[in-house]
Amino acid sequence: MVQQDTTTAWNRIVEEGVRAYVDRLSDAESIHISEQYGTHNYHPLPVNVVRADGIRVYDGEGNEFLDCIGCYSAVAHGHLSPFIVKTVEEQMEKVTLVSRAVYSSELAVFLKAICDYSGMDMACPMNTGAEAIETCIKLARKWGYTKKGVEKDKAEIIVADGNFHGRTTTIIGFSSEPQYMDLFGPYGPGFVSVPFDDIGAIDAAMTSNTVAVMMEPIQAEGGIIVPHDGFLAEVCDVCARNNVLVIWDEVQTGFARTGRRFAWNHEDAAPDLMAVGKPLGGGLFPVSAALGKRDVMDVFVAGDHGSTFGGNPLGAVIAIAALAEMEVHGLADRAEAMGRRMMNGFLDLALPQIKEVRGKGLLIGLEVQNVDGAQLTQRFLDHRVLTKETRNHTFRFAPPLTITEAEIDEVVSRVGAAIRSLDQ
Ligand SMILES: Cc1ncc(COP(=O)(O)O)c(C=O)c1O
Repeated sequence: MVQQDTTTAWNRIVEEGVRAYVDRLSDAESIHISEQYGTHNYHPLPVNVVRADGIRVYDGEGNEFLDCIGCYSAVAHGHLSPFIVKTVEEQMEKVTLVSRAVYSSELAVFLKAICDYSGMDMACPMNTGAEAIETCIKLARKWGYTKKGVEKDKAEIIVADGNFHGRTTTIIGFSSEPQYMDLFGPYGPGFVSVPFDDIGAIDAAMTSNTVAVMMEPIQAEGGIIVPHDGFLAEVCDVCARNNVLVIWDEVQTGFARTGRRFAWNHEDAAPDLMAVGKPLGGGLFPVSAALGKRDVMDVFVAGDHGSTFGGNPLGAVIAIAALAEMEVHGLADRAEAMGRRMMNGFLDLALPQIKEVRGKGLLIGLEVQNVDGAQLTQRFLDHRVLTKETRNHTFRFAPPLTITEAEIDEVVSRVGAAIRSLDQ
């Protein structure tokens, strides 16, 4: 068992290094300690990952898994992209953390790069996706009061049923998933939820107090729900007619995942504000941001918003490297081509248990029917494929965008074998 005497453990950690101490743990010990000392707010697969490389991860016994979870779309560049790792190593010799009380060249380059990449005018750097969403909510409300003339504290934001924007108390307050909300209230007002992919419902929900419509261009956690072609542009039109901001939550769909830089790039649907995160951290580190047009972003004045770690030099260089690699390696085009290959592969399996295959690029949902979800998850594991069920009996496949044709074929063949094994 792991060293129980903490005094001895501290000494050993300092003498041998953290790496050697952690490496001593078996998979079973790791799982046991995690269950004992960690809150049970996740239900992990029984896999203890000790090493990762490209689209593959390994447990302590050397078993290799194809990682189709990709840290919920955060690992776009493959695990431990050599260029991003090298960037970190170089940065470790300069500076990693300063506060926003001072300027930093790393942050300056990052701000310019993310605006160039996204076509937005300004950026507010944060760390997690939920913080980026909170930032967008604050920006939209203040814009409503100071520029649209909405009466103070009356601003409304239209959101979609089935949304997932993170886990803060403000955000879960407008979730439609009972488990995210129950027993965590009371919640603040100011959000109106309408059916997703229903432009008439958005139009009908508009009032003079509406400041924004905030939605995911594809609902990912909600079960990979892709709206009809043209929906994003229709949202932009309705919002423009009502002097209301469009906020796209691109935390999961952004940065090449769906085959374009952002999912809204599939249509003429540029937002006023957008939240980004996940792959911006290059698969190494949390980096997020709220991005937007200048006349919205400039409502923030000193003291309105902030984050101790947001925009730190280490995160900034990682994000610059992540953006550069995405562009130079053409990850959006790869995602489109590899996504098509994976979706066609799943369909060609022609299995009665596969009800539908949907998605865009490498954000793919495999909806199953007449199977036990937990049992199928285990069969996927037995065939060394990491994937988890989202809502609606839909397994999400969001592997790193660096996945090769041969690796796609391997995933498809293992998925087929796993589903067929249910009959045995
Ligand atoms: C669309 C979307 N928005 C926001 C978030 C929250 O991001 P984070 O977990 O980094 O706070 C997620 C996380 O899965 C997401 O999928």
